[in-house]
Amino acid sequence: MADAVETLLGLLRDRYSCRAFRPDPVPGDVISRIVEAAGRAPSWCNAQPWHVTVTQAAQTEAFRHALSDTAKAQVPAPDLPWPDSYPGAYGERRRTCGYQLYDAVGIARDDRTEQSMRNFALFDAPHVAIVQSEAALGPYGAMDTGGFVTAFMLAARAHGVDTIAQASVAAYAPMIRAHFELPETRLILCAISFGYGDPDHPANRFRTERAGLDEILDLRG
Ligand SMILES: Cc1cc2nc3c(=O)[nH]c(=O)nc-3n(C[C@H](O)[C@H](O)[C@H](O)COP(=O)(O)O)c2cc1C
Repeated sequence: MADAVETLLGLLRDRYSCRAFRPDPVPGDVISRIVEAAGRAPSWCNAQPWHVTVTQAAQTEAFRHALSDTAKAQVPAPDLPWPDSYPGAYGERRRTCGYQLYDAVGIARDDRTEQSMRNFALFDAPHVAIVQSEAALGPYGAMDTGGFVTAFMLAARAHGVDTIAQASVAAYAPMIRAHFELPETRLILCAISFGYGDPDHPANRFRTERAGLDEILDLRG
């Protein structure tokens, strides 16, 4: 059991949002094993409302270009509403992780457009997973699919694969639905770009902090 705890904590600690990938592809059988493992995530009524469309090779390149062009030309139209605001500590955490990234890559704080456009180039990842949930299952379907996303990222880490979840990509849900000919009944929740991270790239050289247990846990009795 101690080994299981160590293994799990190791995966949770080692995972980070990778923002620069090497071009080497992830073998197809490894992709299948990651998705199969993520599918072990729990869901209300075991409905398993998640679906992923995963690209390889030329399909990734075609999507990368189409998405970048769309992001330059169109206004965001996400399926899920973006947060209204980030009050108090939430806003501070948001600013801190933004500053960490901009400091790491040496970008002035008032010139962020170029770095944020890297989202739409999928940070040069060789693969992207478009994460969808069945719209009829509503917010709980999306919540279940969030669990799937975390399981995907931890399973990927267990296979030595780096990931980044990207809500920014889901801002162009109508274009994504059309590009991959996805059913109208699916919500586009986020993307997960993945592959093998470039450890020497400045964007991968910082790690985010977490709030202390006292800010999370309200233990009674
Ligand atoms: C649902 C979700 C959406 C995210 N969207 C983006 C995104 O669009 N662009 C980005 O650079 N990071 C994105 N992130 C990464 C977060 O910024 C990152 O998880 C957070 O700062 C904690 O850092 P860590 O993942 O390195 O531990 C997203 C993360 C999640 C879970």
